[in-house]
Amino acid sequence: MAPNPKKIAGERATDYVAHDMIVGLGTGSTAYFAIVRLAERIREESLRIRCVPTSERSATLARELGIPLTSFAEVLHVDVTIDGADEVDPAFNLIKGGGGALLREKFVASASDTELIIVDESKLKQRLGAFPLPVEVVPFGWQMTRERLRDLGCDARFRSSDSAPFVTDNGNYILDCSFGVIEDPPALEREIVGTCGVVDCGIFSGLATRIIIGRSDGSLEERAEPEKLA
Ligand code: A5P
Repeated sequence: MAPNPKKIAGERATDYVAHDMIVGLGTGSTAYFAIVRLAERIREESLRIRCVPTSERSATLARELGIPLTSFAEVLHVDVTIDGADEVDPAFNLIKGGGGALLREKFVASASDTELIIVDESKLKQRLGAFPLPVEVVPFGWQMTRERLRDLGCDARFRSSDSAPFVTDNGNYILDCSFGVIEDPPALEREIVGTCGVVDCGIFSGLATRIIIGRSDGSLEERAEPEKLA
């Protein structure tokens, strides 16, 4: 069987998890493999951990697999989070939110000592922006928020599924914003997050601490040092 790069990266990331840690569980098809492997380690090694999920989807999967969950009602910091990304640049800026979980993902990442990003090689980009940037907005006046985002220079599209609005776990909407090449991700993140009606956006800058890359030839690469963007 051909190697599965997402599985390779996801499983490797769980090696950073040890007894008594609080672990953030990411969302998506790559994070899935990390969650499944953590459940195996809990069964096989009696690994003692408590996990904070970044979405209802990951919470449901974790419960089904018998992974103990906790929340920010009980813990105020996370030791290590394992999450996927839609794009990663050499400076460790990310685009996330393809699955619509960006707000809780950023919340958990910002509470984490270590943020492990697990990707296959297709997610590595020299510059962010080919993937439309997900922006979570409050439903009230979302059309006005869309106009404000368009004024920042993007084509902003309302996300729907089966012609119904896509609603996030937080009861909000998503606008997928195509900016083209994003020259300065941290600056754009600040600008978008400062826009009235925006809850958060899928640019994650300064949060990833290690990138774990699975490749289709079965190999694995880890990057711990972000580069400066030229
Ligand atoms: C979920 O909202 C996203 O941020 C995911 O982490 C991202 O879309 C990567 O997903 P895959 O691992 O499924 O590509």
